[in-house]
Amino acid sequence: GTNNMQAKLVLLGDMGAGKSSLVLRFVKGQFQEFQESTIGAAFFSQTVAVNETTVKFEIWDTAGQERYHSLAPMYYRGAAAAIIVFDITNNDSFVRAKKWVQELQRQGNENLVMALAGNKSDLASKRKVETEEAQTYAEENGLFYLETSAKSAQNVNELFYEIARRLPKA
Ligand code: GTP
Ligand code: MG
Repeated sequence: GTNNMQAKLVLLGDMGAGKSSLVLRFVKGQFQEFQESTIGAAFFSQTVAVNETTVKFEIWDTAGQERYHSLAPMYYRGAAAAIIVFDITNNDSFVRAKKWVQELQRQGNENLVMALAGNKSDLASKRKVETEEAQTYAEENGLFYLETSAKSAQNVNELFYEIARRLPKA
């Protein structure tokens, strides 16, 4: 038979890294060149099937602007999974991603499944963060790393599917 489960998932990362765009791609299969900056947070849900289990993600897409930082614990508290997003063309966004990882390691759930997404992989000619650097950082900190593009859809379904696969099953 099939098992159904729900999982709270939060996206964190610098403003402009592409959190909302990844969610829009995953939930609606769309991309917007002029995606509006998120105010506070936005909620979405989407379901994926892994073997015999159907995982319904309850997704909190947070706002990356610094003035919303103090709201973040409301969204990561009780989360089963987190996606930390940075923009491969912006080194500051990678620095910020590492700060989010530290905060989640201190304050997040004990069994939190964490993914690091190096987004905008379609902009390879403007790359500032090397794949190997991000991959090594992820391995050393217990996350898995994928390079994604909300624009081309590269690795977007794979990102959510891999999280679903790693969630502890009932
Ligand atoms: P905040 O809501 O301010 O925290 O930003 P965000 O992380 O949600 O970023 P958002 O999804 O709004 O994307 C910011 C800009 O980058 C938008 O203009 C997007 O169209 C663009 N963008 C997002 N993902 C990609 C991508 O994979 N490739 C390219 N080329 N542009 C992208
Ligand atoms: Mg946003």
